[in-house]
Formats: sequence, structure tokens, C-alpha cells
Amino acid sequence: MSHTHLRELHTPPATGSKALIELDDLCFAYEDAPALRHVSLSVREGDSVVLMGDNGSGKSTLLKVICGLLFAQRGSYRFDGDLVDERTMRDASFAKRLHQRVGFIFQDSDAQLFCASVEDEVAFGPRQMGLSEDEVARRVSDACRLLEIGHLRTRAPYALSGGEKKRVAIACVLSMNPDVYCFDEPFAGLDARARAWLLDFLGQLKSVRRTLVIATHDQSLADQVADYFVYMGEMHGYDDRPHVHINE
Ligand SMILES: Nc1ncnc2c1ncn2[C@@H]1O[C@H](COP(=O)(O)OP(=O)(O)OP(=O)(O)O)[C@@H](O)[C@H]1O
Ligand SMILES: [Mg+2]
Repeated sequence: MSHTHLRELHTPPATGSKALIELDDLCFAYEDAPALRHVSLSVREGDSVVLMGDNGSGKSTLLKVICGLLFAQRGSYRFDGDLVDERTMRDASFAKRLHQRVGFIFQDSDAQLFCASVEDEVAFGPRQMGLSEDEVARRVSDACRLLEIGHLRTRAPYALSGGEKKRVAIACVLSMNPDVYCFDEPFAGLDARARAWLLDFLGQLKSVRRTLVIATHDQSLADQVADYFVYMGEMHGYDDRPHVHINE
């Protein structure tokens, strides 16, 4: 199989978009079970990358590393030039800044939602960022409008439907205005209308040059949003599409 090499894909254009996420020979194991093996990957600002691979191939693990929730035992991860590891993330202001710049939408929205009301939930990130209450209120209303969840503002997140929870989870990330959006199986549990809406929303994020890293088994979602694919593990995917292959 011919691999398209990162260097060919990632020759920075003259407009100067830069490598935002750089993994170099990164290894991660849960206890002593390896999940990421010598992964090298570079994602430029504004790239829209889809991670594909079999169950257990390491997609969710990789997203968690990128979001600073798991730390590699070997190799390195740099975000916008800064080393992200257990040591640098002990600095609370550095960690806060990383979590603001790299948003993560979990596959399971219940793992992400914990406040008493939707509006508190969406306000949580901006408050953590230390924004004024005026600015927090503005961000909450913008995010609720964009995600079409204004009518749910006073509802308890745990009592919403799966699709409504997903919108709230996205609003929580959007309200922090991150540079990177990591989505883990964003279509899981969504009906056709919600899928169409989400696809359109991903297109809007792309059009404002947000960087997207999306793990999915959904080929049609992948086809519509990916600038290129990252195939993980044994996954061979399609040789005729721009791709890199990692974690073999
Ligand atoms: N919390 C954990 N503790 C121990 N092992 C884990 C944990 N989470 C994942 N693993 C293991 O790490 C490997 C990679 O899992 P991961 O969840 O990253 O795969 P995935 O590609 O996201 O799979 P799926 O398509 O099923 O979502 C698997 O072998 C899995 O069993
Ligand atoms: Mg997964």
C-alpha cells in the first residue's frame, strides 16, 4: 500500500498556516496495555482531519492525548509549540489555557454534563476562563442561539434527550471559542435531522478555519468533512484518498 507522507500533505502553504498539533513518536499504554505505538502526526491550523480505524484501534485514546486528558509515556506532544505532558500540565494556568484552546466533545454526553441547568453548563467554561459576567452572558446566548437550544436553557442537562445533550455539549465547547474541536463519534445516537444539522455545523466551523479532529466510523460524515484521513491500526481505508497511517 502506498502511504501518502505527512511531509507531502503538510507542506505549509504560502499563506503560512502552522502546525498546531505535533505528535512525535508518541507511545501511550493503559497500565501495561499499549494503546498508541510510536505515533507521529502533525495537524495544521485549519485542517479537518478524520480518524478512522477498527474498534480498539486507539482513536478515543489519541483524542484524549490531544486534549490533554492523558499523557504519553514516551515521545512528545506539542500544541502550538508548547510541550504538553504531565509536568507542564501541573501548571494550572497552562492546563486551563490548553483546555480552552482544545475542546473535546465526548461520545457520551453524560460524561461531559454535570451542572444543574443548561445555561450554567454552557457558562461553566467561560467562567473558568475568568471572563466578566457580561461576557459570559453574551457567550452563553450566542452559543445557545447557534446550537438552537435557547428553549432548553433552564432545563436540567441529565433530563434531556441524547441529541439535545449533544447540542448542549457542543455549546459548552463553543462558548470557550477553542482553536481545535475534537469530536469522538459525533453522530452516535443522532437521528437523520440532527445528523444533517451537525454536518452543516461542522461545515461552518471549517469555514471559519477552526481545526477539526474527528473520530468516526461513519464514512459519509468522513467523506464530507475530511481534508485528509488518519487511518489507525489495521484499518486500510481507501488508498485513493489523502491519508496517513499511524499506530500500525
Ligand atoms: N480506560 C481504559 N483502561 C484500559 N484500557 C483501555 C481504556 N480505554 C481504552 N482502553 C484500551 O485501549 C485500546 C484503544 O481504545 P480506544 O478507546 O482508544 O479505541 P477506539 O479506536 O476509540 O475504539 P472504538 O471504535 O471502539 O471507539 C483498546 O484496546 C481498549 O481496550
Ligand atoms: Mg472510541
